[in-house]
Amino acid sequence: MKIQHNISLKQYNTFGIDVNAERFIEINSVIELKSLLKKEKDLFIISGGSNMLLLSDIKTLVVFLNIEGIIIQETQENDVFVTANSGENWHDFVLWCIDQNYGGLENLSLIPGNVGSCPIQNIGAYGVEVKDTIHQVTAIEINTGKTRVFSNQECDFGYRNSIFKNELKGKYIITTVAFKLTKSEHIIYDSYGAIRAVLDENSITEPTISDVSKAIVGIRASKLPDPKQIGNSGSFFKNPVVKKIVFEQIQRNNPTMPFYKVNDDAFKIPAGWLIETCGFKGKRYGDAGVHKNQALVLVNFGNATGNEIYTLAQKIQTSVSETFGIPLEIEVNIVH
Ligand code: EPU
Repeated sequence: MKIQHNISLKQYNTFGIDVNAERFIEINSVIELKSLLKKEKDLFIISGGSNMLLLSDIKTLVVFLNIEGIIIQETQENDVFVTANSGENWHDFVLWCIDQNYGGLENLSLIPGNVGSCPIQNIGAYGVEVKDTIHQVTAIEINTGKTRVFSNQECDFGYRNSIFKNELKGKYIITTVAFKLTKSEHIIYDSYGAIRAVLDENSITEPTISDVSKAIVGIRASKLPDPKQIGNSGSFFKNPVVKKIVFEQIQRNNPTMPFYKVNDDAFKIPAGWLIETCGFKGKRYGDAGVHKNQALVLVNFGNATGNEIYTLAQKIQTSVSETFGIPLEIEVNIVH
């Protein structure tokens, strides 16, 4: 636990943006974290670095939170409670659960990032959101150094949203997440997107959690860029939800537009489709670009700056707004 000076953050964020941290410290335990909080309050926390776009050098102390460890807390007849510390790599944790035959997280396979950030944006994919399995979240209050345990309800989860992105933004550091998973009689979600088609191709009629995970890993790998090869932060924007009247108007001119019905008066339109229709898919501006297989993902081909990616994002927002009258909300955390 030693403060280092002038560290490049390029390898600490999946976008691969090269900004400088004037002061940088790695934290490996809750004890270290609590002792740091006695001395320093103005912190910039980085863990998996998978949901942020860094626009400039960081003047405050950068804390690389790397607390590892998984504990099986309690097993019941059909359920198991497992806690994972925030620095555990998300996908490795999902694979560990599948190895133990613990069900619930398999649809969230291959999402970049660490366990500690999964509740912040309530990660979701292929019909499942992490809120469905989160039992509790343990976090340390920055101002007081006190530990607080949040129940699932207290996290106030929504679509790519939670209390940690709103009222409590910047106030708590998540150290541990407790999950309630199934030990048997797993609930298999295989109807979303291409999962069923991949399982059918492999003649799997009664998929296990491992089969679902493998299918999703294959689908994601074919559509989404691997941050180790091309810098990115997954979906850059949220899928917008619009009122029925707006939806019907757009649909009239675009009968093949994909959509999800949220309720009788609200429809979710894939931002990827809106961006592709505006002509941005596969476009490259210097080292900033829009992924060729999934227009919702902005990419850094090597040496793009945060501002170059951000400028591209704003250009996309303007174009989608002018073409469809829909404001696109950025999902990634922009760090000014
Ligand atoms: N589409 C296009 N063009 C594109 C991309 C998508 O027309 O360039 C269309 C697809 O053909 C499909 C629809 O849009 O009909 C939806 O596409 P997809 O299934 O790829 O999912 P998404 O809505 O674009 C969301 C999540 C992803 C998650 C996938 C799969 C958000 C913001 N994104 O994307 O999450 O992996 O569903 O469940 O909700 C992430 O948050 O980082 C992320 C990758």
